[in-house]
Amino acid sequence: MTRGFFITFEGPEGSGKTTQIGLLRQFFAARGIATLTTREPGGTHAGDKIRAVLLDKECGHLEPETELFLMLAQRSEHLRKVILPALAEGKTVICDRYFDSSMAYQGYARGINPDKVREIHANFLPGFLPDVTVFLRISPETGLERARHGGKKQLDRMESETLAFHQRVLDGYNAVAASEPERFIVIQAEGESAEISERIIKELLPRIQIAFT
Ligand SMILES: Nc1ncnc2c1ncn2[C@@H]1O[C@H](COP(=O)(O)OP(=O)(O)O)[C@@H](O)[C@H]1O
Ligand SMILES: [Mg+2]
Repeated sequence: MTRGFFITFEGPEGSGKTTQIGLLRQFFAARGIATLTTREPGGTHAGDKIRAVLLDKECGHLEPETELFLMLAQRSEHLRKVILPALAEGKTVICDRYFDSSMAYQGYARGINPDKVREIHANFLPGFLPDVTVFLRISPETGLERARHGGKKQLDRMESETLAFHQRVLDGYNAVAASEPERFIVIQAEGESAEISERIIKELLPRIQIAFT
């Protein structure tokens, strides 16, 4: 059996990752494509516990290395126990955040050398990168505005960071996407959700070899 495709969605807070993954999942489901959707941090029981620490405002400031290693710990569980087995079964895996979030957040925004983040990832995980990464590009102001008015009562530890932090996240994503144009699909994420979804699918389909029924 051929391995499934591994697609990740990346972007700042409120860029529409969860919304767009839902729409892409529907598109695949309507065409009989077996899809697993999952998210980081999280994706396993232990991973969700680690997520709770990472997003808990009461944890306050965490050392950048603490954040990085917690991210890697949940990713190790998630990749080995969930993502790789699903891909081996031929499923298409869509993951909400993955390696590039560590590059953007712990690397560019928290100040750990991004080359080190890449090196640690390559050394301690199977060095496994997605086949395609959809980067939803949005200004931090618009993204945070959406996140704040999305019906959530409380902002999490990351959402509560300064605008300057979120600008560094965006700059980081731009840098990573520019360094790997063959892996990235960059989508301007302002506008109607349905129209954004159409643009994503139009760019995605030529990059993945999925037999549609
Ligand atoms: N294209 C869009 N235009 C306006 N609001 C949107 C759009 N896409 C998503 N939203 C809303 O913005 C908020 C954040 O979207 P979400 O998909 O959760 O983003 P993310 O997962 O990237 O944080 C949600 O309330 C969602 O309903
Ligand atoms: Mg989300």
